[in-house]
Amino acid sequence: MIAAMPGERSPASTLAEQLNLPLCEISVHTFPDGESLVRVPQSASTVIVYSSLNQPNDKLINLSLAASALRDIGAQRVILVAPYLCYMRQDKAFNEGEAVSQRVIGEMLASWFDRIITVEPHLHRTQCLDEVFSDTDITVLSAAPLLAEIATRTQQKQGNSIIVGPDKEASRWAEAVATASNLPFIILDKTRTGDTSVSISSAETGAVRHKDIILIDDVVSTGTTLICAAQYLKDCNAKSIKAVVVHALFGEAEYTQMRNAGIKAVHSTDSVRHPTNSIKIAPLLAKTLLQELNS
Ligand code: R5P
Repeated sequence: MIAAMPGERSPASTLAEQLNLPLCEISVHTFPDGESLVRVPQSASTVIVYSSLNQPNDKLINLSLAASALRDIGAQRVILVAPYLCYMRQDKAFNEGEAVSQRVIGEMLASWFDRIITVEPHLHRTQCLDEVFSDTDITVLSAAPLLAEIATRTQQKQGNSIIVGPDKEASRWAEAVATASNLPFIILDKTRTGDTSVSISSAETGAVRHKDIILIDDVVSTGTTLICAAQYLKDCNAKSIKAVVVHALFGEAEYTQMRNAGIKAVHSTDSVRHPTNSIKIAPLLAKTLLQELNS
């Protein structure tokens, strides 16, 4: 059975259709004091809970209550599908006294679920999530082939494209997309000095002149990285700029700023519901879950 957390009915029902599984919706009532009453309408021996973990703080509490309620009424295996996995950035204490969120949230989720399936977690120094989720199965799916389909279509239409990663963290995806779409790529140099303050430079400005740029990134949060990268690329005489990203976490105001900075179009996966969604991840999730269900 697939169980959709609040707000996830649409992607969860697409997945349920692809897997030919029943779907139920988990309800959450918020009491006047802010506490939650979570109710699961039914259970099954294996339950796949669908909850993307953007804006995660309330969702985490509700998820723990849902996993517990599912087990109380009979679930033996509870799997979390979290297309966006929260709190993966903070993998160390940068200053004394800071919580290592990745470890804390990882341990929490691992204690609630038997398996976790996610797409392109935003990792910096951690190479492999098995280190973080040591007590549970974690499956990380790559969205690079899906992003590459857009790059290939752009190249077929425009014929003069180059993949650009805005910073070294994006190099993994930029390289994978470039390889899959048979396009050249470069990585820009980014220095971040604050949440909404970055500077971009590159020693390879000639490579982008008169080119159709396909900016690739995993997460877009404040949009600052893409906005500054686009401004820089325009100054380098790029012909056109589009962005293809995995997780779109930004708001309407940031979207307007991106377009004002010269980004003609933004394509994102539907890992997080967003107006820029044009890439469906359900087939990717279904393929992995079919293996689980057939094993
Ligand atoms: C950096 O590590 C990532 O690849 C993204 O570039 C970054 O998280 C995007 O954040 P923002 O949109 O706030 O610049």
